Amino acid sequence: MAEKLYIYGCGGHAKVVAATARLCGYEIAGFWEDSKERVGFGFFGSKIICAEDVPQGANVFIAFGNNKVRLQKGMLLKEKFHIPTIIHPSAQIADGVKIGCGTYVGAMVNLDPDVEVGEFCIVNNGVNISHESILKDGCHICGGGQIAGNCIIGSEVMFGIGSCIIEKCAVGDHTVIGAGSTVIRNIPENSVAVGTPVKVIKNNG
Ligand SMILES: CC(C)(COP(=O)(O)OP(=O)(O)OC[C@H]1O[C@@H](n2cnc3c(N)ncnc32)[C@H](O)[C@@H]1OP(=O)(O)O)[C@@H](O)C(=O)NCCC(=O)NCCS
Repeated sequence: MAEKLYIYGCGGHAKVVAATARLCGYEIAGFWEDSKERVGFGFFGSKIICAEDVPQGANVFIAFGNNKVRLQKGMLLKEKFHIPTIIHPSAQIADGVKIGCGTYVGAMVNLDPDVEVGEFCIVNNGVNISHESILKDGCHICGGGQIAGNCIIGSEVMFGIGSCIIEKCAVGDHTVIGAGSTVIRNIPENSVAVGTPVKVIKNNG
C-alpha cells in the first residue's frame, strides 16, 4: 500500500510537490490549510483538510513558496510529524550529498559531490549545484539556477530564476538575487541584488 503524505499548503508549490511525491510513490492524503472555509473541497486530485485531520507522527511536507513561512512552520512541525525530503526521480544526486528534512528537489536537478542542502529548502527544476557548495536552511534556488563550486547560499535566500554565481562566493542570509542575475562577488545579508554583474539595489524588507 502506498505511504500517505499530508501536504501543508494549497498553492502552486503545493501542486508541484504533490506531483513529484506521487511519482515517488506517495498517496496524497490531503492538502492542509489553516482557514477552515474550504475544508472538504477537492484540490489537485485529493482534498483540503485542517490540522485536526493530520495524525500525530504522519508524513507531512510543508509546501509554502515563501521562505520565511516555510522555514518557521517547518521548525515547529518537525517536533510533531515526520518530515521527509521529496526528490524528483530525474534528479542526479552524487556521492557525499547531504539534504535536510523538508527540502524539495525538482526535476533534472544536479547535485555534485559533497553538496550540502539544509532543511526546508526548494531546489527547483533544472538547478545545477557544483561540488562542496552549501545551501543554508529555508533558501530557494529558482528554476535553472547555476551554483558553482564552494559557494555558500544563506538562510532564506531567494536566488532568482535563471541566475548564476561563480565559485567561492557567498550570498548572505535573507538576500534576494533578482531573476537572470550573475553573482561574481560576496553579497551581504538582507539585500536585494540584481543584474550582470549583480549589484545591491536596496535592503530586503
Ligand atoms: C529582484 C526583484 C525581487 C526586485 O523586485 P522589486 O523589489 O519589485 O523591484 P523593482 O521591480 O521595483 O525594480 C527595481 C529596479 O531593479 C531593476 N530590476 C529588477 N529586477 C531585476 C532583474 N532581475 N535584473 C535586472 N534588473 C532588475 C528594475 O528594472 C528597477 O530598475 P530601475 O529603478 O532602474 O527602473 C524582482 O525583480 C526579481 O527579479 N524577482 C525574482 C523573480 C523570480 O526569480 N521568480 C521565480 C519564482 S520561482
